[in-house]
Amino acid sequence: MNIRSEQPADVATIRALTRAAFANAPHSSQTEAAIVDALRDAGALTLSLVAEDAGKILGHVAFSPVTVGGDAGWYGLGPVSVWPDSQGRGIGQSLIHHGLDELRRIEGKGCVLIGDPAYYCRFGFVADPAVTYAGLPTQYVQRLTFGDAVPSGEIVYHAGFGAS
Ligand SMILES: CC(C)(COP(=O)(O)OP(=O)(O)OC[C@H]1O[C@@H](n2cnc3c(N)ncnc32)[C@H](O)[C@@H]1OP(=O)(O)O)[C@@H](O)C(=O)NCCC(=O)NCCS
Repeated sequence: MNIRSEQPADVATIRALTRAAFANAPHSSQTEAAIVDALRDAGALTLSLVAEDAGKILGHVAFSPVTVGGDAGWYGLGPVSVWPDSQGRGIGQSLIHHGLDELRRIEGKGCVLIGDPAYYCRFGFVADPAVTYAGLPTQYVQRLTFGDAVPSGEIVYHAGFGAS
């Protein structure tokens, strides 16, 4: 399996993959594919990585700039999608590890996300009550720091997350 940056020819597949992955996901807004498109259109897809095997795209992850308590240099993870019939084979983990390594390389301060702690703790994400998002319960708001900077305050995602 190869992890690489998206190419223009991948856009329709990423859209279909994102729709399929989230079709039955609990807590989904069903707007995740539109969010990826809006981030791309706004030039806010800091990283858009695909996992490819034998020429077939199996998974995708997006990372985009966020502020935390007004502080820039942080990135938001998501949406992340794997085709339903390919889930549970390590594809999501490979994509996320690859993306986090790349964010470290570009000297991001760290990464935040809204998601299930049972999945994201394996990457070092922790819930921190000092980091908040839209009044969500603390355990779903997670952060990973890459250096000395510690995030504090409300996460503000790119406006593309309002797409539908
Ligand atoms: C979440 C997702 C990207 C994970 O990718 P994946 O390739 O299936 O996951 P991996 O094979 O890398 O990891 C499998 C492990 O993650 C766990 N896992 C997968 N999805 C999970 C979830 N939503 N919550 C908790 N654990 C999850 C599996 O139980 C498995 O655990 P184990 O290693 O202890 O056995 C994929 O399942 C997906 O596309 N889901 C639908 C869309 C979605 O919910 N995206 C994330 C929104 S926050």
